[in-house]
Amino acid sequence: MNKEIETKDTITESNITNETSIGKSFIEVQFPVSKISKESYKERKAGQSQTLTGLGKWWGRKPLILVRATILGLLMPAGVDPVKDRDIYLKILMMDADGVWQRKNKPMKDNIVIENLSLKELKEYFEVPVDLFTSENENQDKLIKQAIKKNIADISWKKGLSIETKNNASKLAFDRLSYDDRLGYCLRPEETILDNQNTWVEINNHLGTNATNLQDLMRELGIKKFGYVPTVGDCFAGGGSIPFEAARIGLNAYASDLNPLAGLLTWAGLNILSLPDDEVKKLKDFQEKVFDEVCKQVEEWGIEKNEKGWMAKYYLYCNETVCPQCKTLVPMAPSWWVSKKTKTVAILKHNANNNNFDINIVQNASPAEVLESEKTITVMDGSLVCPNCKNKSPISVLRRDDKDADGKSIFGLRRWEADEFMPRKDDVFQERLYAIKYLKKNNKKTWVQFLKKPGPATDATYGTVFYVQPTELDLQREVKVVQLLKERFFDWQLKGYLPSAKIEEGYNTTQPIRERGWQYWHQLFNPRQLLLSGLFLEQIEALSTSKIQTVAGLLGLNILADYNSKLAIWNNGFDKGTNTFYNQAINTQINYSTRCLSALYNSFIFPLNPYQFNNSNSTIQTVDARILDAVCNFWITDPPYADAVNYHELTEYFLAWDKKVIEKIFPEWYSESRRILAVRGEGESFNNSMIEIYTNLAKNMPTNGMQVVMFTHQDPSVWADLTLILWSAGLHVTAAWNIATETESGGLKAGNYVQGTVILVLRKLTTEATAFKDEITYEIQEEVKAQIDSMRSLEDKEDPNFSDADYLLAAYAATLKILTSYKQIGEINVEYELSKPRDKKTISPVVEIINSAIKTAYDYLIPLAFDSYIWKTLSPEERFFIKGMELEKSNIYQLGAYQEMARGFGVGAIVYKEMLASSKANQVRFKTPIEFDNKGLGGADTFNNTLLRQILMAIAQSEKEQNGQVGKAWLKNEVEDYWNKRQTIIELLKYLSTIEHIDHMQHWESPALYTKYLVELISNDGV
Ligand SMILES: C[S@@+](CC[C@H](N)C(=O)[O-])C[C@H]1O[C@@H](n2cnc3c(N)ncnc32)[C@H](O)[C@@H]1O
Ligand SMILES: [Zn+2]
Repeated sequence: MNKEIETKDTITESNITNETSIGKSFIEVQFPVSKISKESYKERKAGQSQTLTGLGKWWGRKPLILVRATILGLLMPAGVDPVKDRDIYLKILMMDADGVWQRKNKPMKDNIVIENLSLKELKEYFEVPVDLFTSENENQDKLIKQAIKKNIADISWKKGLSIETKNNASKLAFDRLSYDDRLGYCLRPEETILDNQNTWVEINNHLGTNATNLQDLMRELGIKKFGYVPTVGDCFAGGGSIPFEAARIGLNAYASDLNPLAGLLTWAGLNILSLPDDEVKKLKDFQEKVFDEVCKQVEEWGIEKNEKGWMAKYYLYCNETVCPQCKTLVPMAPSWWVSKKTKTVAILKHNANNNNFDINIVQNASPAEVLESEKTITVMDGSLVCPNCKNKSPISVLRRDDKDADGKSIFGLRRWEADEFMPRKDDVFQERLYAIKYLKKNNKKTWVQFLKKPGPATDATYGTVFYVQPTELDLQREVKVVQLLKERFFDWQLKGYLPSAKIEEGYNTTQPIRERGWQYWHQLFNPRQLLLSGLFLEQIEALSTSKIQTVAGLLGLNILADYNSKLAIWNNGFDKGTNTFYNQAINTQINYSTRCLSALYNSFIFPLNPYQFNNSNSTIQTVDARILDAVCNFWITDPPYADAVNYHELTEYFLAWDKKVIEKIFPEWYSESRRILAVRGEGESFNNSMIEIYTNLAKNMPTNGMQVVMFTHQDPSVWADLTLILWSAGLHVTAAWNIATETESGGLKAGNYVQGTVILVLRKLTTEATAFKDEITYEIQEEVKAQIDSMRSLEDKEDPNFSDADYLLAAYAATLKILTSYKQIGEINVEYELSKPRDKKTISPVVEIINSAIKTAYDYLIPLAFDSYIWKTLSPEERFFIKGMELEKSNIYQLGAYQEMARGFGVGAIVYKEMLASSKANQVRFKTPIEFDNKGLGGADTFNNTLLRQILMAIAQSEKEQNGQVGKAWLKNEVEDYWNKRQTIIELLKYLSTIEHIDHMQHWESPALYTKYLVELISNDGV
């Protein structure tokens, strides 16, 4: 199935020069960022049911819809009618009104329909009690609407309406919902197909094509542009989003990555998810067969069942260590809760005879028992707390970590040898089995039938849950597991069923070495885990008859490795183990869970929901992007840029398991992570490798080829460096767009939210022209304004596409466009700039240019209905507040948008965080006057010292006292120079009063009302 690289044959030198068209692409003129952001967010929120996620762990896959939208934007030519272009573009992606309606797969509640119909429509489709329309509310829509809302239960569909008629009514209502609300009822575009023939006629008429499906359309557009079906390349393929989507929508895909795990995942996406149904079935049969064989063997060994016939689901282990003060062996855990659902706790009892602790597991614990358990927590704030002598000993002291004369850390723990898989008796950290989750079967099915219950396997599907402390026989089974592993250990390592590689130290990989002394990858797993995973791999090898089966087996094994290691936390709230890579680190745990077969079925048998596409033209290589030599029409890349993920280290966790299999089935690949070649971090060497890579990509692209570079939005200095890199690589920026892909999990404090992905569009630089900074400064200012004007002219009033953050980004883009359209800018020494360390003090000329462009944009972006003279007198914080209110008015709640704007106005994080009522992703908004109240007023904080802040206080006072005069008095007392500032006060108040009656801003209803009173009072003051 693996296709050797053939891209060279399809794109020959002759057709590289023989280009068909160099007109602008859609994405170089416009991009519906708001809708694409919302669709990307929806895809992200789908969690485990995202298309590629099920194949295995990867950090930061790009949303497929973003990739699809990008590729279409590159292929579709920009025509003379940008509005028509946009409509067609949205139709193809099923993001237009009809497309979204077609994607609707969840029913709307009647009340949503009712609330979104006009009165006339309502009377047409619904039985409405007559008395709702009284003489008082007769001509007042708003009052009637309120009455309807109150009496919704009494309103029902008219009898005898056909389904079609009801559907028509529902569609009327549906179309009036916001885009976000509509998406809540819909499938993702990738889960549906556009099969409305009328729509295809429209699309074909506009584009001069003859397609009836997405794949044909893409290929036809490609042929129009290049003369043949184009190839989309990604040299940083990672989890494989970009090549997968390119192939799925009908193009040729070239994928490469330095890392073989990325190669494996990308290969799987392309080759497994494209399979026809019968092949998928065969693959599923294979997975089942492996699982059956493993079950049989485990049953025979008798290591997961007790003498009563109960089946174990989880084994819980904790570390133990000797208290340095009283020398008692202390079991370690930050919490002794075993299961909150079943009220199960562990209670420690000092055993003076053995100088250790007995651990009793109590199910259905009484409050007194819970209290007793909570009193014996033994790990707190990084210290061991001995329940016997009550002394606290820091864990680093237990480990005997130290520093040498040069201040270099010395790790105190003994390092485990290659052949060890358990601690030695005298090691600081021992491992102890302290609880077992057993399931008692309560019907006649066999255990294997039980185990293989597909879908979310709740405990109830198996039987009754019992948590117990290990008995003598349980401990004997532990000994047996160790024995079984010992018998196989070397043989299995030799055959590649168990990892044998040493852990190379690094940013993440040093942690297990320092914290546990584990210096070989297999030591991150206990004997049970090694025995089980090794057995799986043995059976995969024994039963597989094809490459694709082996790959499916290996993916399953990787999921087992993720879910079944000593780093898998026990979640006592949900009664299950979490995975190792719940974040981007290799964190050791003090207590952890071990899964049995009954908790592994749904991990090993990962979901296979294929899309059946023709994948005959895809190529996957493991190669350093500096030296690849495949020619692609489009390079779409997401470089490891200013990125916190150490792919080259984390992937070694999986490669330790996969190494030998990869060598066997992909002989043309290598199997190690090649850390040394990984692009990472920042600084000169990083910049140089990026230049080398992008120079190479530009070389491997026809003259009319294009590139898209995706990166996380960062501050101007990151932009400046990236610009210089791409520019030095001979590329020229033609457009930039920002897609918000923020997810809920992070929030402000964690600082690891994904703010936004910038889509930078590039072409080859062909000019030899040079210019000077002064010359381009003017050119950039004009470009900023032109770009903003063009975006504003395309703006959809109903469903606004652009926020201020996007206009601001236009300023970055304009700078980049102008700058990189010259071969050289007189004053800028690219090499020198890129060799300088990035710091806050010295501002590079490029950053200076960007900053001046941003300023131009802000001066140009005066809110409608604001006096431009007064606007210029406001402080940055005041402007930020006003523009932030504009964001909220346009339904924008993404943190990234506010951050971006704060940065543009130069408002610091501490100040703006104080101004926010919520910093939760997608719920961000400013405080209302009452929420501000007098907190910090007039203090050191820059916003608290502004006139606007006093005005907000005045509004809050009026609102609280329900009296406008109070607010007026406040302003007259508190604002120095009140009379001179009166005009500005009125202007600001007038602005705030416009926030009354906005459906999604109910919290401003009352403040805006008092603001209106204040406008009156202050305007008439002293007149
Ligand atoms: C941000 S990730 C790409 C994620 C991908 N777009 C996705 O959707 O999953 C960056 C990738 O660059 C790869 N990489 C780092 N240095 C490289 C090099 N010198 N050559 C090729 N790939 C490299 C890493 O292995 C990693 O997979
Ligand atoms: Zn002690």
